[in-house]
Amino acid sequence: ATLTNGEQKEHLYKVLVIGELGSGKTSIIKRYVHQFFSQHYRATILFFKVSIVWEFIIVLNRIFLKSIWIGVDFALKVINWDADTVIRLQLWDIAGQERFGNMTRVYYKEAVGAFVVFDITRASTFEAVQKWKSDLDSKVQLPDGSPLPCVLLANKCDQNSRDGIVNDHDAMEEYCRERGFANWFETSAKENINIDEAARCLVTKILQND
Ligand code: GTP
Ligand code: MG
Repeated sequence: ATLTNGEQKEHLYKVLVIGELGSGKTSIIKRYVHQFFSQHYRATILFFKVSIVWEFIIVLNRIFLKSIWIGVDFALKVINWDADTVIRLQLWDIAGQERFGNMTRVYYKEAVGAFVVFDITRASTFEAVQKWKSDLDSKVQLPDGSPLPCVLLANKCDQNSRDGIVNDHDAMEEYCRERGFANWFETSAKENINIDEAARCLVTKILQND
């Protein structure tokens, strides 16, 4: 039977997408939300100078514009989860260079889940995963104090030049268990591989906590 709108449950979830510069966060979101990929790299921009004037501009931007001036961008994905559940995923695309800034606490506020992204062709982006994960865990928790459910994305799996641990499936599983990742997926924003699957996995975890 078809349920009326009144009987449908709607959830709004804030989900963070974090990871090193150029790992593919923006590309994954664009693919997932807009079914689009571009080879051209434009970094999600971070404002370095925070003076009172800039803070004022940032606040105005947040309120009135979808800004490119601050180290975060937003996208909304609406998922018809099942017959009586609609999920609105608000994806927060955090600039890779933000790890060196101090705005992450503000961006992380009230999030209920996260993706940490690295680039399988660059081992340095994998080494940074634990830094992002500990930044996340130290700055935001669920209302009951537990860490946010987090899914690790090994991105650019369409590339042949794989670097390091990602070649070792067992080691990756072990890594996820140790660091508290719910799961990991090899993804490609370019070829549209595993992005829907990874999102479904994270949403399932979020729903279990809700
Ligand atoms: P920052 O905003 O600087 O933190 O970077 P980002 O993580 O948002 O990376 P972005 O999505 O801008 O991607 C960086 C570069 O990698 C771009 O040139 C993309 O086209 C490329 N890229 C992203 N995902 C993939 C992928 O799955 N496969 C391949 N081959 N290239 C990708
Ligand atoms: Mg970006």
